[in-house]
Amino acid sequence: MSDKAVLAYSGGLDTSVAIKWLKEKYNLEVITLTVDIGNVADLEAIRQKALDLGAIKALVIDAKEPFINSFVFPALQADALYEGQYPLATALGRPLIAQLLVDTAKREGATIVAHGCTGKGNDQVRFDVSVAALAPELRVVAPAREWNMTREQTLAYAQSHNIPVPITVSSPYSIDENLWGRSIECGVLEDPWNEPPKDVFAWTKSLEETPNQPDYVLIVFNKGIPVSLNKERLGGVTLVQRIHELACEHGVGRIDHIENRLVGIKSREVYEAPAATVLLQAHQALEDMVLTKEQLRFKAKVAGEYADLVYNGLWFSGLRQDLAAYVESSQRYVTGVVKVKLYKGKCQIVGRKSLYSLYDFSLATYDKGDVFDQSASPGFIHIWGLPVRTQAKVQPAKPPE
Ligand code: ARG
Repeated sequence: MSDKAVLAYSGGLDTSVAIKWLKEKYNLEVITLTVDIGNVADLEAIRQKALDLGAIKALVIDAKEPFINSFVFPALQADALYEGQYPLATALGRPLIAQLLVDTAKREGATIVAHGCTGKGNDQVRFDVSVAALAPELRVVAPAREWNMTREQTLAYAQSHNIPVPITVSSPYSIDENLWGRSIECGVLEDPWNEPPKDVFAWTKSLEETPNQPDYVLIVFNKGIPVSLNKERLGGVTLVQRIHELACEHGVGRIDHIENRLVGIKSREVYEAPAATVLLQAHQALEDMVLTKEQLRFKAKVAGEYADLVYNGLWFSGLRQDLAAYVESSQRYVTGVVKVKLYKGKCQIVGRKSLYSLYDFSLATYDKGDVFDQSASPGFIHIWGLPVRTQAKVQPAKPPE
């Protein structure tokens, strides 16, 4: 009897070729697993295609809820942005897909899990390391990393094996999308001087097409989790989808990033991350109001570290879990409402309110009602400036010639 492999299957060219290749090369029985974390077109057609190509079973899992609640929202609470720009949509999806591959392999008695990543990117690392963390006894096979075929060779293989080539192959880009964002690379984008052409963007309107009237959005956070939009209480998935629609309409969330991959390559990736852009900004605006200066400074360092861990495939590492515990603790008073204005590609924070606000009007105001004791300032400054005066006496700010 041949061994079984569970293959993460998108329905695209590479993973379709992989079904045949795993059978031909390793004589494996292939079970496909298609995970819906948003924006998968026709799940039933994908399932049928897998079976037509010889998969012994084709499974589909709707994982939108766990994706948002267990991966995206913790990253939002952490303010995770890789290199200050990329909200990590693809990077957050991978560990969840790996987890579902592992669960499925165990249930189906498979000894192998497989994915369609090449050997040049970050995604192979995320899959392999996540599987290793969850089920070190499973073997990971990455056909596209092993077969080393060019695009043309893959197409030729598909033709000779009666694999229907999806029309999307005519797209010159490599695209990955889920509820948190859309990642686009390859084609003309490989020249970093080229402005992304119109057809790169599938979600967000170009500035020329956006309305001439702004939209105002009220987002309520409870302990750092968004729970209501424009006074309507919504579950995580629906809330993200609604913000997505509003932000797309105003052209918000286009990102053009020269990023540093884990494997040492600089690559140019264009992102559409409308919901992520709005929610990350709104969340930080609320934190600015309820966290102290010291908490904010420290949390920003954690955010950078957290984003690196997610990007580098270390979601299931001990350190990511430790940082997540800190982040969770930091959110205990991040409750309140943020007013956001969406207009001409911009997301502006125009108001914020919280029961736990540390902003004290009577301290901040220059008008009547001021309770700040200005007479205490000279004494404070005397001591604050003491080391500078001591140093200036022996080490003048302008050194002698
Ligand atoms: N550069 C992003 C990351 O490493 C996205 C990778 C997938 N991109 C794609 N266009 N298929 O997370």
